[in-house]
Amino acid sequence: MEEKPLIEMKGIVKVYPDGTRTLKGVDFSVKKGEIHGLLGENGAGKTTLMKILSGMLKPTDGRIYINGEEAAFKSPADALSKGIGIVHQHFTLVDVFDALHNIILGMEGHGLFSKIDVGRAKRKLQKVMDELNFQVPLDVPVENLPVGVQQRIEILKMLYRDVDVLILDEPTAVLTPIEVKELFRVLNTLKEQGKTIIFISHKLREVMEITDRVTVLRKGELIGSINTSDATPQILARMMVGREVVLRIQKPPKEAGEPILEVKDLWVVGDRGEKSVKGLTFEVRAGEIFGIAGVEGNGQTELIEALTGLRHVEKGKVLLNGKDITGKPPKELYDLGIAHIPEDRTNMGLILDMSVAENAILGLQWKEDFRGPLDSIRWVNVRKHSEELVREFEIVVPGIDAPLRSLSGGNQQKLIVAREVSKKPLLIIASQPTRGVDVASTEYIRNYLIKLRNENKAVLLVSADLDEVTQLSDRMAVMYEGEFVGVVKPEEVTEEQIGLMMGGIRI
Ligand SMILES: Nc1ncnc2c1ncn2[C@@H]1O[C@H](COP(=O)(O)OP(=O)(O)O)[C@@H](O)[C@H]1O
Ligand SMILES: [Mg+2]
Repeated sequence: MEEKPLIEMKGIVKVYPDGTRTLKGVDFSVKKGEIHGLLGENGAGKTTLMKILSGMLKPTDGRIYINGEEAAFKSPADALSKGIGIVHQHFTLVDVFDALHNIILGMEGHGLFSKIDVGRAKRKLQKVMDELNFQVPLDVPVENLPVGVQQRIEILKMLYRDVDVLILDEPTAVLTPIEVKELFRVLNTLKEQGKTIIFISHKLREVMEITDRVTVLRKGELIGSINTSDATPQILARMMVGREVVLRIQKPPKEAGEPILEVKDLWVVGDRGEKSVKGLTFEVRAGEIFGIAGVEGNGQTELIEALTGLRHVEKGKVLLNGKDITGKPPKELYDLGIAHIPEDRTNMGLILDMSVAENAILGLQWKEDFRGPLDSIRWVNVRKHSEELVREFEIVVPGIDAPLRSLSGGNQQKLIVAREVSKKPLLIIASQPTRGVDVASTEYIRNYLIKLRNENKAVLLVSADLDEVTQLSDRMAVMYEGEFVGVVKPEEVTEEQIGLMMGGIRI
């Protein structure tokens, strides 16, 4: 006999007010006591489906059954009363409150946190933490705690509310590998205690490791559910993408050449006056990919901004091909041979309301090929150029006159890569080049970076995706609080060692 599922969602449809049809009749069911993975590419509808299950969004159509009984949630409180709680991708803690007050917020009844309530709350929480061997400091304002600890607080907040079903939306995105291990240990303990867990991810490896069963969504549709023991990364990738995917990167060995970029004792200050980059010295050579890994917010963004002329250099020197380029403005750096694939593509790399063709020459419009008399633009050449890029990079577009907005995120990103490398640069600085990009485009972009390296370009890669950095880099640095904890060859270190370095420990 098949056991009756604890949660059953049937024919869930969600059309957002702007008309976006995000879920197209999805069935989803979860058994009690399992860790159930919800897998899909960015935009597949995972978050939307789980916001519906946790009472934050109302479905346009469809039904939800909990233990066989139909439920219609009007609010998150409704879902909580049925034992369902969610930890969002972006946390919802009150910065200036400590963990304890964040956790009891909204549950204190009358009056502001009276003494008795706080004492009892503290004892209950301590018990939960002890059982799980999962501690957080209860009396420190959460803004002073690292993001991994803030996530624990969000989890404890749900456990304090006695949820039976804990939904975690991409929880590992903000964690170091060691923190991920610790989270997985806690999830397994919760499972032993009889809790049910829904684990959202787009990472195959994690889903393979932690889940009992996996449901895959693609473009708002259910592709299927499968026992993890019957799955392989290949099978899951195919379900996710809809075709065979090359999961391994081909990278022939290669000797690096002359240094192209030299950074000497570089100091950079962040937006709040803090020292973000503290005396970095390194070089990127021709024919190598130099990767920078690390948890985000450790100075990577400020470093790249300084190298691309977007942020003031406090102290130190930057050389390109032996020539001092410290403090030069972006346009001059471009002309000297630096291409930049920016972290934040929709704010820095592209203009969504302009056409594909216009975006294809952004930053290049003053080039002779494109500039006609009296600062006019030679549209014939612009169109030819953008058609070439679209063809070479297999960018899916309705046409080169279509607004950029009509392209998928992956194709927008491919257009940036295409445009930047069409400048024939010496150095390519790629910041989070595949973030939010579909698997097929990710594969294309990664292989393209390797192609550039094989063609003797220097590539500086910054990515919070550890797999990306280790697969692509010839040498990699781990950045922590503005410094490099170490520079290593990826094949010479274990993941455990990289994890330690990401936490600031030198090996
Ligand atoms: N508030 C919203 N309004 C309109 N469209 C939205 C909204 N939230 C999400 N979407 C769209 O719904 C689709 C699915 O989004 P989401 O559920 O966040 O996917 P996932 O979590 O799998 O990445 C995306 O195409 C997204 O752009
Ligand atoms: Mg999501």
